[in-house]
Amino acid sequence: MRRPMVAGNWKMHGTRASNKLLVDELQQRMTDDWGIDVVVFPPYVYLTEVMRQVEGDSIAVGAQNVCAEGPGAFTGEVAAAMLADIGCTHVLVGHSERRRLYGEDDALVARKFAAVLAARMTPILCVGETLDERDANQTDAVVSRQLDAVLRMSGVKSLAKAIVAYEPVWAIGTGRNATPAQAQTVHAVLRSRIAAQDANIAGLLRILYGGSVKAANAAELFANPDVDGGLIGGASLSADEFERICAAAAVQP
Ligand code: 13P
Repeated sequence: MRRPMVAGNWKMHGTRASNKLLVDELQQRMTDDWGIDVVVFPPYVYLTEVMRQVEGDSIAVGAQNVCAEGPGAFTGEVAAAMLADIGCTHVLVGHSERRRLYGEDDALVARKFAAVLAARMTPILCVGETLDERDANQTDAVVSRQLDAVLRMSGVKSLAKAIVAYEPVWAIGTGRNATPAQAQTVHAVLRSRIAAQDANIAGLLRILYGGSVKAANAAELFANPDVDGGLIGGASLSADEFERICAAAAVQP
């Protein structure tokens, strides 16, 4: 009932030449028969070029970040309206690298989420706990707090136009993915928290898992009932890996 999504977060990687090669290879490998949504997130400066390359086919293009403010005197920032203007359809908000390295707190992430929605794009809200928080049995509390900040500001109905990604910080770029059971447990916590406010929206919401997803572990992660696809970092830079991850998402019932 929920259409799977596989999203490739390229982070701060790539050149014009390497992007072109990667997208060329993806285009040769992608098939609509998979019945999934595929989105790639290049760095800002390459968005337009990648969009031009995928024009007319089924790969969507999104941004990794956005300014919470509207257009104005914010040197170095990019407004949601600008991303929508060039054709972005999705924007990541609250990625743990933004929270950790750039001091983005729950309130700022909630404002970014609202800004993306106001510009009629789809926010992908990233949530996840650190290893210390997991070890202290704080996982549910942390992801709930991160989710609640958005629910308070934008309301549960806003999730009808959004996607959530559970990305445990300790699994990002470490090669140590959450086990399928760990992922399922947290996804179920998130979905039931939303269901307490609106069961219909909770049932339709796609919740992606991210953190060391690769071709070798994608199928077992995606086989969980509350895991609706993946947000892929390192493995999204390899067309071969990314294709196999997409294929793993496609076999879901
Ligand atoms: P890795 O797949 O490299 O662990 O990164 C996950 C991630 O942060 C995607 O947003």
